[in-house]
Amino acid sequence: MKTAIRRDMILHVEVVDLLNQQIMMEQRASSKYLAMASWCDQRELRNSATYFYNQAEEERTHMMKIFKFINDNGGSALSPTITEVPHEFESLRDTFEASLDAEIEVTQSIHHVFKKARQVGDFTSELFLQWFVTEQAEEEEKVRDILDLIDLMDDMPLKMIDERIPTE
Ligand code: FEO
Repeated sequence: MKTAIRRDMILHVEVVDLLNQQIMMEQRASSKYLAMASWCDQRELRNSATYFYNQAEEERTHMMKIFKFINDNGGSALSPTITEVPHEFESLRDTFEASLDAEIEVTQSIHHVFKKARQVGDFTSELFLQWFVTEQAEEEEKVRDILDLIDLMDDMPLKMIDERIPTE
């Protein structure tokens, strides 16, 4: 029987399309973080570099989570192609500002897929996406805290600021 070989897709096709776009966004976020890590690494800003390397890994994990979710539920996940990401930053603060911008963009996108899943009655995707909604709120808060920290220590040498940046 056909269904014994390949399960019918229980996800809504429009949601799958948006989830595939989300795969692209998460992979792009991972690449952006890698560029930030590289900028910090070259300037011996070790804690910040470690922070961004860890974020790059985390975004890849998010990407894989969505990728597996689509395939495990009868859909077809698309391997993302990422083109250029910014590699030039003006300052350490600039890297974290770029990080916050990237997180806000991802949050808005997650909310958009979540709304679509709810609108079309795709409860499987809605439940799956709840984790991402919570995760994004935490991610944004983490970067905002770091930006506050950088602003507080504005007059300190860059290396001393870096020593206070959390690594994850
Ligand atoms: Fe997976 Fe922080 O976006």
